[in-house]
Amino acid sequence: MTESGQDDNQDVITPIISVEPVMSSDELAQLRKTNIALESRNYELRETVRQLRLQAAATESERDQYKREAKRLKGDLEQYRTPPLVIGTIEALASDERVIVRSTTGPQFLSKVSETVDPKEIIPGRQCALHPQSFVLIEVLPNKYDTLISGMEVETAPNVSYADIGGLELQKTLLREAAELPLLKPDLFAKVGIEPPKGVLLVGPPGTGKTLLAKAVSHETNAAFIRVVGSELVQKYIGEGARLVRELFALARDKAPAIIFIDEIDAIGSSRSNDAYSAGDHEVNRTLMQLLSELDGFNTRGNVKIIAATNRMDILDQALLRPGRFDRIIEFPLPDEAGRAMILAIHTKNMHLAKSVSLEKIAAETPNMNGSELMAICVEAGMNAVRNGRTRVSGEDFAKAIEAVRKGRTEKIMPLPDGMYS
Ligand SMILES: Nc1ncnc2c1ncn2[C@@H]1O[C@H](COP(=O)(O)OP(=O)(O)OP(=O)(O)O)[C@@H](O)[C@H]1O
Ligand SMILES: [Mg+2]
Repeated sequence: MTESGQDDNQDVITPIISVEPVMSSDELAQLRKTNIALESRNYELRETVRQLRLQAAATESERDQYKREAKRLKGDLEQYRTPPLVIGTIEALASDERVIVRSTTGPQFLSKVSETVDPKEIIPGRQCALHPQSFVLIEVLPNKYDTLISGMEVETAPNVSYADIGGLELQKTLLREAAELPLLKPDLFAKVGIEPPKGVLLVGPPGTGKTLLAKAVSHETNAAFIRVVGSELVQKYIGEGARLVRELFALARDKAPAIIFIDEIDAIGSSRSNDAYSAGDHEVNRTLMQLLSELDGFNTRGNVKIIAATNRMDILDQALLRPGRFDRIIEFPLPDEAGRAMILAIHTKNMHLAKSVSLEKIAAETPNMNGSELMAICVEAGMNAVRNGRTRVSGEDFAKAIEAVRKGRTEKIMPLPDGMYS
């Protein structure tokens, strides 16, 4: 054996590595599964964290909102706690910083003026607000007139035109002549050389269209229309009613050309009597006196006209009726047969009438009925038809309605329980 042969014979030891698999393929698959599950769980948890963070942010912003709301409510509460301001009227300027103010509760004050008030606004006669303790003038109020008075101006005219009034042709013409013409064509009166009537009084039984005609005037006229009901001028405190009358005329002069309409004037215009015992009677008398002096005070050719309505002319004070005050009296009689037919025609305008219905016949059957009763007949006849499920109103419906309205006039529909007013 050669050396080389020896070398050749040297065994090459190739190590046999037998790797025992640490885990079976099943176990490996299991592990992979667990891994996937964990990862998805991890993902889920991250998602939850993200959502919780979002929620936290939302809650925080909600909290901020509540904080702001609480602050605002606290501010409101603070405002509600401050005592109300006293209302007064500026009477005169005493010096640069001081004014004489009469508060609505009566006394006069020499008040300081707050720096926030514009000195130009301090005009005698304006309403102002005073601090309740120090009586410092804090604010000059924007409206010149009592809110009650400024609310009387009719801005949206009622939807009644002359065509909606049946008959009363003479009354319409007279009222237009006396109230509208002097406002619209004052030179005409100047040329003729007469003074137009100052005030117009509409008198007549209830329901004959006095208020209705005044509404039509307010609808048709271009002049400002100020409507007041007599009872609104009756006030609780002494002198307040007179002040309202004064402001009423001041407003009218401001808005001129204007028409003042006093409905139900008997509330303040009933005759003054010597036996007015209560303070209330005296107050009403004072209001009437102010009205009389205002009527005397303004120029007839000026552009303020006054219309009043009443159904109790008999109790009106004579002073109101003398020439120079309400010197034009327009009477509203109960409608005659032709008038009744016209009123019925107006109120049945939108009704479906059967051919057999004759308005002339109904007019003939309703002597002494006034406009409002005729309207009630039309409504009642319509109700009869509705009750029977019809849309066309028949002659019989009208006959029943006339009967019902006539009955309502003479009988009490609901008898009062015994002793109710005793
Ligand atoms: N001439 C008329 N034409 C049409 N409808 C009338 C007429 N007269 C009265 N009416 C009807 O009667 C209702 C009441 O009329 P109005 O309010 O004018 O009565 P009044 O004369 O002012 O009565 P009061 O003296 O009681 O105040 C009106 O709303 C209207 O529907
Ligand atoms: Mg009326």
